[in-house]
Amino acid sequence: MALNIVIMAAGKGTRMKSALPKVLHKLAGRSLLRHVLDMTQGLQAQRNVVITGHGADAVEAAVAGPGVQFVRQMPQLGTGHAIQQAVPALPEDEGTTLILNGDVPLIKQATAQALVQACDGKALVLLTIHLSDPTGYGRIVRQDGQADGNVLAIVEHKDASAEQRTIREGYTGMMAAPTGALKRWVGQLKNENAQGEYYLTDIVAMAVAEGVPVLGIAAPNETEVLGVNSPVQLADLERRFQLEQAETLLEAGVRLADPRRFDVRGSLSCGQDVEIDVNCVFEGTVILGDNVRIGANCVIRNASIGAGTRIHEFTHIDGEKAGGAQVGAGALIGPFARLRPGADLGDEVHIGNFVEVKNSTLAKGAKANHLAYLGDATVGERVNYGAGSITANYDGANKHRTVIGADVHVGSNCVLIAPVEIGAGATIGGGSTITKPVAAGELSVARGKQVAIAGWSRPLKKR
Ligand code: UD1
Ligand code: CA
Repeated sequence: MALNIVIMAAGKGTRMKSALPKVLHKLAGRSLLRHVLDMTQGLQAQRNVVITGHGADAVEAAVAGPGVQFVRQMPQLGTGHAIQQAVPALPEDEGTTLILNGDVPLIKQATAQALVQACDGKALVLLTIHLSDPTGYGRIVRQDGQADGNVLAIVEHKDASAEQRTIREGYTGMMAAPTGALKRWVGQLKNENAQGEYYLTDIVAMAVAEGVPVLGIAAPNETEVLGVNSPVQLADLERRFQLEQAETLLEAGVRLADPRRFDVRGSLSCGQDVEIDVNCVFEGTVILGDNVRIGANCVIRNASIGAGTRIHEFTHIDGEKAGGAQVGAGALIGPFARLRPGADLGDEVHIGNFVEVKNSTLAKGAKANHLAYLGDATVGERVNYGAGSITANYDGANKHRTVIGADVHVGSNCVLIAPVEIGAGATIGGGSTITKPVAAGELSVARGKQVAIAGWSRPLKKR
């Protein structure tokens, strides 16, 4: 049966105290609204309508894509008024319309599907939640106040009597309704209430009056229905989401030192016997092979790490886009290493502390263990690249490559001025500035002459 999805995202979100529209605030690397849209992907709706208002241009630009259409609500006169604006975008009368909120990001597909199925184009289905403190929520008023009594109405907190405020069952803001009836009902809403708004929730009493079945379905848990109105709530949902991801990985056999100090903002896939220490952040698409160990406080974005590799503490890897940084098997990286986009490291490569690698290929067994820079370089097998050595790859306008053959030994504090090529097995003496190609097997030393300056004395501290 035809399904429409309408996502309300016009509200202001004053309590975020931010210039960014509320629904564009990020949770685990994706905007709140993006979470909802991603969830709807599996529901196969014939259309997804997003109602925008505050910050509409920014919101629409952020989530525009195939199958998403926008309706503007200006000004915002309530949730019922929001749905009135969507009516022209819902031409058919048969089928179901599912209403979601752009600021309730963790609703699961199974829950949304349950609402749609229970509605079946005929019933009005409300997603409800039992709360110890339902302050602020619309209350689900049931026949004779019985938990299994028929739903009679939703009464908004501000309009509720003292007795109604004792009801613990609240409306989550999500419902599924028969499309034709929904359109008719919202056309009849009035704003004679405590807030002077058009309440979508008033359609419940209309359905009851018409004899349309109204069902309240309880949400499986609180996390799925919590909205974001403030930084406190955003941080709370972030931790809930992260803990859920961590627990899924633990159950799959990934050994996390502490599931509460672990963040994935994207997708992390792990082989067998992977261990991850505390305070690591994974962003974009990250793939860890079997037996990978990640030390504490690493940030790894868009990278794949081969089997048995150890990433020591405080390493920063950023491939920029999926697959943008690659490390082979059995490599040792860090502590305090930095791999940037285009870093492509072979098996058994060693990258030590304060070494930066960008847009460079290092073949099997190459080592740069301390304080070095490799940019736009092709480094052969077993090369040993000394402390303090750099590739001078940028002339101020263009970047140039440095090619270092297999088994080359680059001493400490060398500057390789690109473009330059160093033949296999060559040795570059410490402190050299290399501007010309070096032949295979050659020893090349290019240092200034040591000068003694007469008559100079360094002031000595008095003892
Ligand atoms: C609404 C429900 C309340 C429910 C609560 C759950 C109504 C009248 N009340 O109340 O029963 O318990 O959600 O959180 O529906 N929005 C628009 N345009 C508007 C007003 C709101 O798009 O003119 C959007 C908001 O951006 C938000 C959603 O609708 O995504 C809910 O709006 P909000 O103002 O938070 O509703 P509540 O008063 O909390
Ligand atoms: Ca709300």
